[in-house]
This record gives sequence, structure tokens and C-alpha cells, in this order.
Amino acid sequence: MILVTGGAGFIGSNFVLDWLQASDEPVVNLDKLTYAGNLENLVTLQDDVRHHFVQGDLGDRALVERLLTEHRPRAVINFAAESHVDRSIHGPEDFIQTNIVGTFRLLEAVRAYWSSLPAGDKANFRFLHVSTDEVYGTLSKDAPPFTETNPYEPNSPYAASKAASDHLVRAWHHTYGLPVLTTNCSNNYGPYHFPEKLIPLMIVNALAGMPLPVYGDGLQVRDWLYVKDHCSAIRRVLEAGQPGETYNIGGWNEKPNIEIVHRVCDLLDELHPKADGGSYRALITHVQDRPGHDRRYAIDARKIERDLGWKPAETFETGIRKTVQWYLDHPQWVQHVQSGSYRDWVSKQYGAVVA
Ligand code: NAD
Ligand code: DAU
Repeated sequence: MILVTGGAGFIGSNFVLDWLQASDEPVVNLDKLTYAGNLENLVTLQDDVRHHFVQGDLGDRALVERLLTEHRPRAVINFAAESHVDRSIHGPEDFIQTNIVGTFRLLEAVRAYWSSLPAGDKANFRFLHVSTDEVYGTLSKDAPPFTETNPYEPNSPYAASKAASDHLVRAWHHTYGLPVLTTNCSNNYGPYHFPEKLIPLMIVNALAGMPLPVYGDGLQVRDWLYVKDHCSAIRRVLEAGQPGETYNIGGWNEKPNIEIVHRVCDLLDELHPKADGGSYRALITHVQDRPGHDRRYAIDARKIERDLGWKPAETFETGIRKTVQWYLDHPQWVQHVQSGSYRDWVSKQYGAVVA
């Protein structure tokens, strides 16, 4: 049994689906179901006894302690976070509460549980913290990609809150001996990506004939990784990572935003041509830049490849094609997110599912 937090979000739900496809080990999924949590992502697990969903806050120490005592997981994987940089600029409070205070409370609950385990279980237990490359700050055009030893230089409230959570996780290992693993990953994309982030936003806006808002000159660089590759990397780190170590995860796919948007438009032109024969590129609109916008992220993923033998399976080309096709194949998922009706899913589908 493993306990996952944030397993109804984009990466967490992909992880839970992939985990239960690859193994029969049950998952307790603790998620607050903020706007970013969507149980429709997990509809295929509705009658699956291996998946136990609990709506709740990772900062609710009594709840987390009860779940740990009841289910006795061998590992906790912490995905739960406020994750959108633009939202953190408009309202940083939730980021401080969930990403920093929430992680602190989760660590304390896990430490109490871990301390009570018999010696063998204690040695095998793992706390895996899912973090981001944004903690390292921004890179100049020719600087080498981020390694695990780069200094932390977070620039947005989101990145600062994730950096703080990484520091807490590190300290809980150093001070209390908690067997932690931290992963710092680059930008993910793929199925179930909430359409406020770049790639899904461009796909759904283009299909709706709406403008495709590119911040500033669109030459900011991100390093893109297909979400299923991130999930396989986390499984590998959980299996073989050394407690106390951090692992950078990336796809070796550095691309300027404008190139991403062009590729999405071109794929839509091919897979879902416009009735008037024009290109979706005509919808691209340059808008005001994000304040403090980091110019470039890039991950040096050599450590995880060298030490744990992990490499991404998808290239950007194969991953983005699958992603565009997934959105074309799931108009109802998109429509429920856009109308907000995905938020009724819990009561409609699960009745009074609560802790
Ligand atoms: P997301 O915003 O799609 O999902 C976050 C999930 O956490 C949601 O289901 C939400 O309901 C839940 N949640 C939020 N606050 C909570 C709380 N207080 N208690 C319990 N659950 C709560 O995020 P994502 O893109 O899936 O990212 C998952 C993790 O991976 C985050 O920690 C993020 O920092 C990290 N990460 C994301 C990316 C990326 O490109 N998306 C890249 C690297 C790292
Ligand atoms: O690098 C990892 C991070 O990637 C994760 O830690 C974050 O949780 C995740 O949200 C993501 O952060 P970004 O800020 O890089 O992702 P976003 O999709 O918001 O933006 C990607 C790039 O596209 C960024 O340079 C801003 C730009 N952008 C974004 C949006 C939403 C636009 O140009 N227009 C847009 O409308």
C-alpha cells in the first residue's frame, strides 16, 4: 500500500492510473479537490478496490495520522500542491498554506508514523517529494542545464513555496533521519492537463476559435517531458533512489514557447483542419508578459540515468502528437472542465465520499 497526495490533479492522476496498471499494490489517494483536482480523471478506477480516494487536506494532521495508522503505507508520495505560477502571482496565500505549511504538517504526521514502525518497515519506508525545476531560478541562453547541485534561486511565489518545501523535506532527513527522496522535474504535458497551462490552453482555445495568448515575445524556453515519463521516473526513484538524494527529471526537450504553440497549431491543422482551410496559427496573439517571467529552464537529467537507469520513452514529437490527439478524443472532459461541472462529479458519482 502506498499513500499519494494530490492524486486527482494532472500528474497525480496519471501516476495513480499508471501505478495500478503496472501493479496490484493499492493506493490511498488524499486530495483536497481544489479547482485543479478532478475525479473524472480517475473514472476508470470507480469500482476498483485497489484505489481508495479520500477528500482532505495534506495539512490536516489528524486526518493524515488516521490514514497512516489505518492503511500502514510503505511509502508516501507527495504531489499535492498549488502549482500554477500565474495564480501564485495573483494570490500567493494558498501557495504558502499548502506548499509550505501543508508539507510541514504532512512531514510531521509521517515522521510520527515512521518512528512507530518496526525496524524492518522503518528502514524500507520512503517519503517521496515531487518538486520542480523552478526552484533553481532562471538560466541565461548559454548556461548549462540545472544539475542537482545548482543553488536554489526561486523567482515566483510558487517557486519560492516549492523551494521552501524542498528545504523542509531535506531538513527532516538530515535532522530526524526520515528516508526522503526529492525529485525536481521540468514542465510536464499530456492527458488530463488542466487547460490553464500553456499546452492544454492552446489546444482548447484553438478548437474554440479563441485567441492563443503568448506572453511577451514567446521566446522563453521550457524543457518539456511527457507526463507518463515523469510517472515512470518517480516509480524508479521510489524503487531504487538513495534516501536523502535528489534527482532531476527532464526530457532533454528545450523549446521556446512560440515553437510549442506553432507545433500545436500545425498538429491541429493536420488532425482537425479548420472548415475554412485556414491555419490555427492565425489565432496567435502576443499579450503582456508574466511579471518576473523566468527566461529559460533546462534539466540535466544525467544523474537519474546514470544512477537509476531511467530515460524518457517519448520524444517531444511523439508526446505532443499523443497529447493533441487525447484532447481531440476527450471533448467531454474538456467541456466539463470549462463549464465547471467536473466539480459536481464527487457528489454525483460518489455520493457522500469523505474521509
Ligand atoms: P495540479 O495543480 O494539476 O494538481 C494538484 C493536486 O493537488 C490537485 O488535485 C489538488 O486538488 C491537490 N491539492 C491542492 N492543495 C491540496 C491540499 N492542501 N491538500 C490535498 N490536496 C491538495 O498539479 P500538477 O501539475 O499535477 O503537479 C503535481 C506536483 O508536481 C506539484 O507538487 C508540482 O509542484 C509538481 N510539478 C509539476 C510540474 C508540471 O509541469 N505540472 C512539473 C514539475 C513538478
Ligand atoms: O517547470 C516546471 C513547472 O512547469 C511546474 O513546476 C509548474 O507547476 C507548471 O505549471 C509549469 O510552470 P510554467 O510556468 O512553466 O508553466 P505554464 O504552462 O504556466 O507556462 C509555460 C510557459 O508558457 C511559460 O513560459 C509561460 C508561457 N505561457 C503560459 C500561459 C498559461 C504563455 O505564453 N501563455 C499562456 O497563456
